[in-house]
Parts: sequence; structure tokens; C-alpha cells
Amino acid sequence: MLYASGRCAIVTGATSGIGAAIARALAARGHALLLVGRRQDEGAALAEALSVNGTSARFLAADLSDRAAPEAIIQAALAAFGRVDVLVNNAGILTPGRADDTTDASWDQMMDINLGAVFRLSRAALPALRAQGGAIVNIASDWALTGARGALAYAVSKAAVAQLTRCMALDHAAEGIRVNAVCPGDTDTPMLAAGLSGKARAEALAAYGAAIPMGRVGTPEDVARVTAFLASDAAGYMTGALIPVDGGMSAG
Ligand SMILES: NC(=O)c1ccc[n+]([C@@H]2O[C@H](COP(=O)([O-])OP(=O)(O)OC[C@H]3O[C@@H](n4cnc5c(N)ncnc54)[C@H](O)[C@@H]3O)[C@@H](O)[C@H]2O)c1
Repeated sequence: MLYASGRCAIVTGATSGIGAAIARALAARGHALLLVGRRQDEGAALAEALSVNGTSARFLAADLSDRAAPEAIIQAALAAFGRVDVLVNNAGILTPGRADDTTDASWDQMMDINLGAVFRLSRAALPALRAQGGAIVNIASDWALTGARGALAYAVSKAAVAQLTRCMALDHAAEGIRVNAVCPGDTDTPMLAAGLSGKARAEALAAYGAAIPMGRVGTPEDVARVTAFLASDAAGYMTGALIPVDGGMSAG
């Protein structure tokens, strides 16, 4: 993997799960980091833990439903590091439901965070990315690629992120900005089997894993490695790609 010394990456939803793993992976590859999330204590602790061996990590508390957040995030990155090379749009929410048990409020919230916030922060990042070229990596879902049962609004929002990824890739390719998406399958984070703990959660994860061709659910690190690859110069001729990281689930 190419070393990214001197480059700055922004990671949203960095205080838990896949986002925290992406932050660790990008730090290990030499990025300066602006971590974004809602939980000040967890975010500050992660930034401190990553600020070793020459890595500089900062945390900014922000709610991505706030229309002022994107500009504040970009300005914070520029103030701290003077540039933005990588934006990882990772934050997301899932409220299960079919059409007949999805409320207007739940639909609107998933579209706003999973799709709208990705659009708004990507738009705000464009001038800084354009300055030297860069990469946006969107964390979509394998449900962006296939239908899903019982997660209507979530799956629709992620499919729209896939289309946003392709369209922005085309619009900004000539500006040296690559836009790709990772499409995780079931991954062992607080989002999966939410509400279960202990033995019940372990049994649920085993059952999910048994339905996956590779026989297990993913780890946050499985997703983080591919994200770091797409952010790096090793993926320098890739844009508009939707990469499943799902143990083969979407292949069938
Ligand atoms: N875990 C899975 O099985 C799975 C599968 C496919 C895709 N994904 C996607 O991976 C991404 C990361 O999810 P995860 O599994 O790590 O779950 P998670 O719940 O641990 O992480 C989601 C993060 O997004 C943050 N977030 C949510 N709303 C926010 C808001 N309004 N403002 C700022 N931050 C906000 C949360 O605080 C949290 O840190 C999400 O986009 C999710 O849809 C997860």
C-alpha cells in the first residue's frame, strides 16, 4: 500500500464500527485525520489514540443533519492540515421497515443522513479536493446492489448513494477527483443485530454468517482495508466503482 504521508483524510461516523476501523487504517498509512462524529468523548479518545508515530488526528463533533456542518468540517480540516485529500462518507443509520411500517419521519431521516449528508459534504469538499486532486470513498451497502427485505428506506438510500457515486465520478474525473463506493455486507458493528447483546447477539451473527458464501459476517477491518485501497494511489485509475465487501453475498 502506498504511504500517504502529508495527506489529510476526513472520516465521518468515526466514533464506532466501520468508521473507527477506517480511521485506524488511514492513520496506519500515514494520513493526517479529521474525525467527525456526534460523540465528543469517544471521538476525542480515538483522535488521541491515533496521534502517535507522527500521525496527527483531530476530532470535530458534528451532526450531519445540520446544514452548517459540511462547511464547518471542511474549514476545520483546512485550518488543521491545510488541505483535504480524502473524504470518507461513512456515517449512516438504519431503521428497519417495509413500506407499510416506515413512517414519513423515518424515511426522511434515512434519506437525509445516508444520502443527503453524503451529497452535502462531498459538494463542500470539492474545492479543497480540486486543489491537488483527491478521492471520495462512500460507504454504501451490498443492498445498494441487490434488493433487500425489511429495510426499504435504508436500501433505497444506499442505492441512491451508488448512483451519486457514479455521477460524481463522471462529473469530476477530469478534475483529478476519484469517487468510489464500498458496499459492505453484514459487518460486526453496533449497527448489526442492534438491540441484541451477549449470547443472543453471538447467535444472530452466527446465523447471518451461515447465510454468507464465505461463512462469516465481515469485520470492520475487512471494509477498512478496501476503503484505504480506494483512497490510495494504488487505485489511481479507479473511479465510479462500487466494490462489494460482503463475503460473496451479492454474487449470487
Ligand atoms: N454494519 C453493517 O452490517 C453494514 C452493512 C452495510 C453498510 N454499512 C454502512 O457502514 C457505515 C458505518 O456503519 P457501522 O456498521 O459502522 O454502524 P455504526 O452505527 O457503528 O456507525 C455509524 C456511525 O454513523 C454515525 N452517525 C449516524 N448519524 C449521524 C449524524 N446525524 N451525524 C454524524 N454522525 C452520524 C454514528 O454516530 C456512528 O458513529 C454506515 O453507512 C452503514 O450504513 C454497515
